[in-house]
Amino acid sequence: MNVIVIGSGAREHALCRILDKSYLCEKVFCFPGNYGISQIAECRNISTKEDIIRECIKINPDLIVVGPENYLSENLAGELRNNGLNVFGPDSKGAKLESSKEFMKEFCQLHDIATAKSQTFVDFEKAKNYLESFNGPIVVKYDGLAAGKGVFVCTNTNEAIEACKRVFINKEFNQENNKVVIEDFIEGRELSFFTITDGEDYLNFGSAQDYKRIGDNDTGPNTGGMGTISPAPILEENLNKIIQEEIVEKTINGLIQDNIAFQGVIFFGIIVNEFNQPYLLEYNTRFGDPEIQSISLRVKSDFLSLLHSTATKNLKYSKIEFYENKKSICLILATKGYPENYPKNTEIRNISKFKNNDDFYIFHAATKLIDSKIFSNGGRVLSIVASGNDYRECRKKVYEIANMIDWPEKYYRSDIGANF
Ligand code: GLY
Repeated sequence: MNVIVIGSGAREHALCRILDKSYLCEKVFCFPGNYGISQIAECRNISTKEDIIRECIKINPDLIVVGPENYLSENLAGELRNNGLNVFGPDSKGAKLESSKEFMKEFCQLHDIATAKSQTFVDFEKAKNYLESFNGPIVVKYDGLAAGKGVFVCTNTNEAIEACKRVFINKEFNQENNKVVIEDFIEGRELSFFTITDGEDYLNFGSAQDYKRIGDNDTGPNTGGMGTISPAPILEENLNKIIQEEIVEKTINGLIQDNIAFQGVIFFGIIVNEFNQPYLLEYNTRFGDPEIQSISLRVKSDFLSLLHSTATKNLKYSKIEFYENKKSICLILATKGYPENYPKNTEIRNISKFKNNDDFYIFHAATKLIDSKIFSNGGRVLSIVASGNDYRECRKKVYEIANMIDWPEKYYRSDIGANF
């Protein structure tokens, strides 16, 4: 089979790698891809929706996998499907579960899915008045897509008002029609849980724990994710069962009831309180980054076959197997200064000397090749992933390599997978 992956990050690098491993795979294309991806897939510098659609029709692949959320919310998957192509990824209607926090809350209310109590505001003064009636921690969420940076977990009212200012007054995310969802803060431990569905049947696709903040011990601003460990250590059998019944099944049935066709992956961002009660924090409608980087080294099943079955509504004939005893860790190497200001075009000198294998892989997010040298091209740049018998073994490996990478501008957290 020929496959096209859309996107250019480390998530797409991981997707290309597991698709390429399939015995069914003839060729992987990636639009636009990046330097690392070009080592295993044919990358074409195409990134507008119109150009992608035109090129996909020309190649007529057996499967297209849409990686990033912005393309999904622009209905790229829906339009490709309307052209008769097999696509893994929901139409914009399904992608709205991620692209509108307000829609997500309404969906949860309608289908009795446990989530924090919330209210939506479309202007600053009303949001401020509401916040002033509160005391203590509270969460402010920008309603739309914000690359993981639109959620403000605030310790007090003043911080929450500042967050609303960033949305409504500074207009950091959008120039007009801004909206925030303000929700109660739930104390607990977070996990990322994945389910692939063809709109009728579904299969769970593993779990991970994401380290979202920039600094050690979860300090500093939120990022797109600074590392993951998989499986999520807190996901024991009983919790898994509750998530299954109270969140996953209600979501799949809700989509069917609401006539929202969904062929792709649902990524449930979940928080578990002190009574082992899970609450849905958010839906994402694509694979997590950096979750998929760590999960991908644990997948035993044929990934191309699974995604193709999803895109062709044949998931009932499939099953997923993991290397159950394998753990994995992904450590993100970012450019110093991320997620605020950071330089681009800094040289990474010795990366080619580290050889990838089934238990170790360096995925590229933002790299480019100039005159045979590799340069950084963004904030989160490399994902170093190792799998092994326990987290300690994985941790030893990823940190050993992170130390050895000759890139003076590198930054990484030192506590990914510590304490397990
Ligand atoms: N790691 C969080 C995300 O992909 O949104």
